[in-house]
Amino acid sequence: IKPDDCHFAKTRLLSLENTIGGKVLPLEYLAQARDFVNTHSLALHLDGARAFNAAVELKVDITEITKHFDSVSICLSKGLGAPVGSLLLGSPVLINKARRWRKVLGGGMRQAGMLAAAGQFALEHNVERLRDDHENARYLAQQLSEINDFTVDMTNTTNMVYATYTSSINIEDIAEALKQQGILFSPSKQLRLVTHLDITREDIDTFLNALSAHI
Ligand SMILES: Cc1ncc(COP(=O)(O)O)c(C=O)c1O
Repeated sequence: IKPDDCHFAKTRLLSLENTIGGKVLPLEYLAQARDFVNTHSLALHLDGARAFNAAVELKVDITEITKHFDSVSICLSKGLGAPVGSLLLGSPVLINKARRWRKVLGGGMRQAGMLAAAGQFALEHNVERLRDDHENARYLAQQLSEINDFTVDMTNTTNMVYATYTSSINIEDIAEALKQQGILFSPSKQLRLVTHLDITREDIDTFLNALSAHI
């Protein structure tokens, strides 16, 4: 929180991201954040791009997470699988303001109902199955950790696997070899692997086998 000084912006908002780096923020932490913003007269925003992943992992209704926040964004096009789209949730006053800003910034869309229908389908059909992505990510993390040359963060419980590549073999060469097999990844010593509804257990095995063959 910036001091009350004309050289600084006024601090008005605390924004949390959940899940963050594949980790779920505990519900008690959200309650503490609410108390904190109440004490300091701030608003509380949730970057909930992956909020349903958190709810599914905690086995709670999404409202157990969102009830602490003044505003929430939800991404429909990540694990939920819609081709495009995000939701902004908040009070009518906030949403009216947001609509105005969307227009000002050139973000208005016409005939967006087709995309909204895809988003609605995602919300109605693809929430509970996020659990499959989490199980697949755990499987991927476990299997990857058994390949020498990868150190895997095993503390993530949702759909993200973070791994550090420790071998002296050039990771760019491995990426190039895998590309020949139709497997694309951005070569880096720090890898982020994400599971979603288009990635099956068999796809993961295909990837792991191809990787093992080139290490
Ligand atoms: C944590 C997080 N928040 C917000 C966004 C932005 O989502 P959108 O562009 O759909 O608003 C992303 C997307 O990449 C994200 O990963």
